[in-house]
This record gives sequence, structure tokens and C-alpha cells, in this order.
Amino acid sequence: MTPILPDDRAELPEDRAELIAAARAAMAGAYAPYSGFQVGAALRFADGTVVTGSNFENASYGLSLCAETVAAALASQQGHRAGLVAVAIAGGPGGVPGAVVTPCGRCRQVLHELAALGGTDPLVIATGAQETVDMRLSALLPLAFGPANLEP
Ligand code: THU
Repeated sequence: MTPILPDDRAELPEDRAELIAAARAAMAGAYAPYSGFQVGAALRFADGTVVTGSNFENASYGLSLCAETVAAALASQQGHRAGLVAVAIAGGPGGVPGAVVTPCGRCRQVLHELAALGGTDPLVIATGAQETVDMRLSALLPLAFGPANLEP
């Protein structure tokens, strides 16, 4: 199956910059007392909606939630389950961007679930202080397991 991208607006410079700015702004909401690494994620949907999230850590470290996962759960809760077209991520120690932040393996799977609901292959915009890397989610998580796999 070739995933489709129903709305290319997220690839336009102004929308791109706006989404990156939203991810950077979301870093301020991070609860990251253990790692000190604050991350923000911004999800753009085909209808123009932007949902953001930030990491939410736990005293039982391994239970911490990443920014992308928080954003995806919030989007679902708010009824945005179709048309995920782009995801921007920003983060760094103390909330200061450094190296490019790409989604962890678990977040790739979580984002795939949300994307699969609308049949999109979102652009993932991973940002750092100096550089930005754009990748399709399908390139970050090839041959992903998803809802379709559970169909008989
Ligand atoms: N983290 C994210 O929120 N997203 C990523 O893409 C990478 C890692 C969080 C998890 C943890 O709270 C902190 O960054 C350090 O790993």
C-alpha cells in the first residue's frame, strides 16, 4: 500500500515554520525533572488543526511519556483521528535545542497508529539548533504493524 498525503500545506514554508514554532513553544510545558531534557511536539492535521504535547516524566523513569505520545493521545481525545499530515519535534537539555531530536521507536509506532486512522504518511520534521531533518513516517518505521494487521 502506498500511503497518501491528502494535504501538502504542511510542506509550504509558512506552515512548516509555524509547526516548528509550535513544537518549540510546547517545550515549555514539559515535565522533565529527571532527565532535564524538555521536548515539544506539534501535530498538524489536514483541516489545519495543530495539537501539541510535551514529555511527561515519572519517578519510575521507564513510565515516562514522550512529547509525541502525549500529543497523539491528546489529539485522539479531542477527536482528531484522521488527516495527520505533519509532526514537528523540538527539544534539548534544559529546553535549549541542540542536536536534532527524532522520535523514539515507541513514538514512531504511536504516531503510526494515528496516521493509519486517516491513511496518511505524515512528514516528520525533526529539529535541532542548527539543522532540521524531514522524513516520512514510513521511512522512520518501514513495514509498520498497524490496525490493518488485525483485520482477518
Ligand atoms: N523524549 C521525547 O519526549 N521525545 C523524543 O523524541 C525523544 C525523547 C523524552 C523522553 C524523556 O522524557 C526525555 O526526552 C529524555 O529521553
